[in-house]
Parts: sequence; structure tokens; C-alpha cells
Amino acid sequence: MENRNIIYYQKTDSTNMRIEELARNGAAHGTVVVAEEQTAGRGRRGRRWESPPDGNIYMSVLLRPEIEADKAPMLTLVMAYSIATVLQNQGYEDVQIKWPNDLIISRKKVCGILTEMHLQGAEIDYVTVGVGINANTKQFPSELQDKATSLSLESGRTEECDLLIENILQRFDEEYNQFLKEKNLSFLQEAYNQLLANREREVQVLEPGNAYTAYALGINQNGELIVRTHEGTEQAVFAGEVSVRGVYGYI
Ligand code: BTN
Repeated sequence: MENRNIIYYQKTDSTNMRIEELARNGAAHGTVVVAEEQTAGRGRRGRRWESPPDGNIYMSVLLRPEIEADKAPMLTLVMAYSIATVLQNQGYEDVQIKWPNDLIISRKKVCGILTEMHLQGAEIDYVTVGVGINANTKQFPSELQDKATSLSLESGRTEECDLLIENILQRFDEEYNQFLKEKNLSFLQEAYNQLLANREREVQVLEPGNAYTAYALGINQNGELIVRTHEGTEQAVFAGEVSVRGVYGYI
């Protein structure tokens, strides 16, 4: 993705929606949309992603990977891992990944990822990977204060979003290429598991129509979360449709 095409908006509905429109009109793999503010930011599970012009990162990347559709959720893990390593390099040493799509610092959410796949028949047409990073928010609404944080609140400094975006895209490029070569996540599995906030913790697995608690062990090479159930069997939880919560709270 040399000569990356980055399209900037001061304000837009949702960078994921901008990518969808661009993709429908044939935009190339690697196209990126960045906005300073979103009026209809999308979160996972149909939620909103509040996106005020507070110096945060709202960005989406268009991918046209030649992989099977059931491998697409792994792209979320590749992006989460890429962002985590960039943040570590910026001095956020205690950054962790809450599988599959959140980054946390001080056990609070600092980044969310929304991956949306579009199929043509059984094949992937394109994938949008949307990233929201609380970079410079100074204060969250009271109901979010114990669940959300920003880089700036954690470090006391103002973050330069352009630099972070550049570093994240570069890092993602490298990890993505490796993923495409290997078609699995064995190359980052160990490092990812070191960053995993849910590791060796009791989690609540929320699958559509099925909720249970289990003990999280780590990801396998397909990016699935391996959990040990109370019956003592190990199960692989697929990243596609589930959500994992801590038994006592968000993590
Ligand atoms: C989540 O944690 O629920 C995922 C949040 C993803 C938010 C980002 S902000 C940029 C991109 N555009 C959107 O509308 N959503 C994603």
C-alpha cells in the first residue's frame, strides 16, 4: 500500500459508510477515510460510536483480501495487534487487547474496531476495518467514566493523530501482508496472547442465543478464543458474532 490514498473529512456520517460508497464505486484496496467528527458513528452490535470533534481518531480502511470469508474476522485481530504495538512504542506500555476488538489501558476502553464484510455470492467483495481511538477526549459522560479512557487522559500529553494514523497504517500493512502469506495468525499468536486482557480470566461468552461462562486461555492460530468450560472441555470461540465480557465487569 505504498502511495496510500487517504481521504480526509472534517465531518462525515461514518467513515465506514464512506468506505462502503467508495468500494461500491470501485475504490482500490488500501483506500483510507479519516474524519475529525462523525455524526452517525457505528459501533458493534448496532450501537452508536459517539464521535465528537475532540481530536480523536475515526478512520476506516478498505481491504480487498483474497481469502475465504470465514477468515475475515481475523482482520480485526490483525488491526488490534497493530494498534497495540504502535501504542506500546509511544510509551503506553500497559495497553492490552480485549478480544476480539477492543484495546484497553488501565482496564478501560481506549479503542474499538468495527470490521464489516461485504460478500458477492460466497466470496469477499471487500472488508471495511473501522477504527475509533479515544486520543484526546478530556472528559467522558459520567456513565462512561469508569469504562472509557483516552490516550491523553492516561499520559497527560496531547496526541498527534496524524502521526499515530501513519504509524498504525504502516504497521497494519506489514502484519496484513504476513497474514495474507500465511492465511492464519500463527506469526502473531504468542505476542497477541501476551497482550490479551482476558487471558486466564473467567469470561462470559455471549453467542447469539447462547450465553455461558468459561475460563479464557488465549487465541489459537485462527484467532479464536480458546476457553475451558466448567465441564472441563476446551472450546474455540469464533470472533465473528460473539462478545466476551468479564464476569465481574467489562473485562
Ligand atoms: C466498537 O467498539 O463498538 C467499535 C467502534 C468502531 C468505531 C469506528 S470510528 C471509525 C469507524 N466508523 C464508524 O462508523 N465506526 C468505526
